[in-house]
Amino acid sequence: MQLLYEGKAKRLYLTDRPDELLMEFKDDATAFNGLKKTQFKDKGRINKRLTYYFLNLLEQDGIPTHLVRDVDDTHLIVRRVEIIPVEVVVRNTVAGSLAKRTGWEEGRLLSSPIFEYYYKSDELGDPMITQEHIREMRLATVRELNTVRFLASQVNDLLTGFFKKIGIRLVDFKLEFGRLCPQKKDIILADEITPDTCRLWDTETGKILDKDRFRRDMGDVMGSYSEVLGRVAGAVHA
Ligand code: TMP
Ligand code: ASP
Repeated sequence: MQLLYEGKAKRLYLTDRPDELLMEFKDDATAFNGLKKTQFKDKGRINKRLTYYFLNLLEQDGIPTHLVRDVDDTHLIVRRVEIIPVEVVVRNTVAGSLAKRTGWEEGRLLSSPIFEYYYKSDELGDPMITQEHIREMRLATVRELNTVRFLASQVNDLLTGFFKKIGIRLVDFKLEFGRLCPQKKDIILADEITPDTCRLWDTETGKILDKDRFRRDMGDVMGSYSEVLGRVAGAVHA
């Protein structure tokens, strides 16, 4: 298989179909733009399954995603897209860089979701940008941005509701979108949805069940990821 792209947590391979790629979930974990690095046994398997479940759920609710089918423990077949180099962060509760930037108290529920955009650039350290920067840099058109924003909001509503049912608070999360190849006209949800890219707190105890356990050296990282997978799988197969 020919490697097309390698990121911090995933690899993408070409397949025998021009419109499909093989996505591999690695056990690697990084934080702070790759400054902190380790491996967690089973992380790839857990994150693949969670991404599969979430993208499936979203597809069922009418969100177009890159998911095609499950392959094995650590691989999915996905539709080939041209990734829009903008990370879309949706926040429901104050945490992380929002708390840092504003001085707001961590854990406070926002009166309505906050949408933020970050320019995907390792050299620049993924700076936050506005819709005007995105236009000026020609990263996406106004039309595309409107679609991205609309889909991100729908994803937030659907995922917030789903997590609530399994006793988890969806604090914030990051999404990536792409232009479906080869036409590059349709915008679809791409990438992953996992505890690497979401903040997830237990509704009852407040226990952190996401990558912050690794970022902040809190321990029990994979125990928490498995806990999330167990609850998600339970709800999906119920
Ligand atoms: P932040 O509070 O550090 O800006 O993170 C907001 C959300 O985005 C959080 O759920 C983690 C996720 N995220 C990523 O998926 N990738 C990243 O590179 C960063 C910085 C955050
Ligand atoms: N994903 C980023 C990194 O690998 C940052 C993070 O998630 O904290 O460095």
